[in-house]
Amino acid sequence: MIHRSWHVLGAGAIGSLFASALHKSGVPVTLLRRPESEQSRTQAIRIDENTHSGEVHLPVSYNNDFEPIDHVLICTKAYDVRSALGEIAHRLNENSCILVLVNGMGVMDELSTDFPNLLFALGTTTEGVYRLGDGHFCHAGRGITRLGMEGLVQPPPWFSDWSRTERSCVWEPDIDETLWQKLAINCAINPLSALSRCNNGMLLETAALASQIDAVCQEISLVSRAAGYIQTATDIHRKVASVIASTANNRSSMLVDVLAGRRSENEYISGYFLKIAANYNIPTPHNKALFEGISLLDKQTKT
Ligand code: PAF
Repeated sequence: MIHRSWHVLGAGAIGSLFASALHKSGVPVTLLRRPESEQSRTQAIRIDENTHSGEVHLPVSYNNDFEPIDHVLICTKAYDVRSALGEIAHRLNENSCILVLVNGMGVMDELSTDFPNLLFALGTTTEGVYRLGDGHFCHAGRGITRLGMEGLVQPPPWFSDWSRTERSCVWEPDIDETLWQKLAINCAINPLSALSRCNNGMLLETAALASQIDAVCQEISLVSRAAGYIQTATDIHRKVASVIASTANNRSSMLVDVLAGRRSENEYISGYFLKIAANYNIPTPHNKALFEGISLLDKQTKT
């Protein structure tokens, strides 16, 4: 029996869901936190699902502690990953596994420059979970979590910690295409819903918004084809329509950020897409206008 342990950096909604799931399946889990004030060395996480509510109590380690970290799940905002990893870098080595489960793309470009000797795995999830209060979350929709590492077709041994949890987790041999597809869906839904201040469903119910979705998807399809993401190029209109239908009553994460006056992950969503489009000299005026609209809102935030 191998005794692995996991640390979780960024115990927001998604980080807490997986910290709790790993703990419940018998894996030792520690939450990482900034040593900001006198805080307790344990933290309760409560997750409500339908009529059930489950609570776990997890140990807390401060980022500036010294015990080495073998496996760490990072679930911060995309723009915080680089500095958060910097705070625990002294506890990592070339054998540590660092699993980055954040929105958008482009974080890896930053990390491989800053931390060339560290080993990264990437992931994306469709689990629907939101915060109700301090350490208290609602698991509103079950989804699938796809994890992968560039060039690794078969899962590494640590993946069994994930496949044994109550959550549905699969190993993805082509994680890059999977992340791109999620990015493409986010590019279509998130900025338009945030600028229009509407639930996802309105994006197809209102003719003017539906035609914008169509134009944005058209551009995404062209760029995806040029970049070799053929499945996304072929499927994006249908995929976006299906995600909009299945999340019709939800607010996108970008709309939630904008309404909370928080900086959005625009640079790692539309911003990354525009960089790739520019690499192939493909004009993407609709995506650019959405990016610029959200950038203006981001400039007014403090974070
Ligand atoms: O970012 C989000 O909110 C979600 O990824 C999605 C799929 C756009 C649904 O709202």
